[in-house]
Amino acid sequence: MSHPASSLPDSSLPDSSLPGAPLPPAFAVAALRAAGCVFAEEEARLIAGTARTPAELAAMVERRTLGLPLEHVLGWAEFCGLRVAVGPGVFVPRRRTEFLVREAAALARPGAVVVDLCCGSGAVGAALAAAVGPVELHAADIEPAAVRYARRNVAAVGGRVHLGDLYGPLPAALRGRVDVLVVNAPYVPSGAIGLLPPEARDHEPRVALDGGADGLDVQRRVADGAPRWLAPGGSLLIETSGRQAPHTAAALARAGLVPRAAVCDDLDATVVVGTPAAGRTG
Ligand SMILES: C[S@@+](CC[C@H](N)C(=O)[O-])C[C@H]1O[C@@H](n2cnc3c(N)ncnc32)[C@H](O)[C@@H]1O
Repeated sequence: MSHPASSLPDSSLPDSSLPGAPLPPAFAVAALRAAGCVFAEEEARLIAGTARTPAELAAMVERRTLGLPLEHVLGWAEFCGLRVAVGPGVFVPRRRTEFLVREAAALARPGAVVVDLCCGSGAVGAALAAAVGPVELHAADIEPAAVRYARRNVAAVGGRVHLGDLYGPLPAALRGRVDVLVVNAPYVPSGAIGLLPPEARDHEPRVALDGGADGLDVQRRVADGAPRWLAPGGSLLIETSGRQAPHTAAALARAGLVPRAAVCDDLDATVVVGTPAAGRTG
């Protein structure tokens, strides 16, 4: 077991290894190390800091040795400095997606109407609301498990969560009123799913990862629908990969949006931002 792509960012791990932090239980470190865990000590500290009883600690260590993502074992993931509730069947928010939040925060003002589409745990919307201040936040996802977690995370910042396919479950009253439409849809090409780390491949739902033959099926549908929902001057922000960015941008352009790409090398993150062409509305 290597440190999983879905695991907590390295920068979040030393938190619990500050001078004076209690030593992690030796049995936990040994078990995690034997299972091939590269960051056994740090993970043992996090698990020990989360477990409420010795029995729970032992069960959590066992689940991790069986290959569950660390965050599913803990029941939370650190994202933009927040503790976001996650669990089995839900996509673990990735460190690179913090760039999507940063770009969206630069465009949102307090009071803005914000929609987090394909919200998963609701991490993006919750972090955006925490960064910007009070916003009218709506989040939506097609997966009931994701929506259950999103309701916990998004309720904490006063938002609402809807269950269904893309724009389908959003209140009709939002049409033409969305200032910031922020989307991390699945964008892994179907043929590359098998190359993902086992934590993702085996423990995150296929619908959260699989973007179709070229990875862009869901993004194209998001782009096509966006002009009907964006307010004049509103923005659509979609996370994508550097390689796929020109295709994501082309999908936005076909939908009548003017695209630009933003890149963060440190996080290996790419976001394509689209705004309605002047004079065009949905
Ligand atoms: C890559 S995950 C991202 C989750 C979250 N935005 C994040 O960054 O942590 C993609 C999410 O899109 C959802 N999804 C996939 N297809 C969808 C659709 N047609 N309508 C709504 N949600 C969808 C999945 O259930 C999953 O939660």
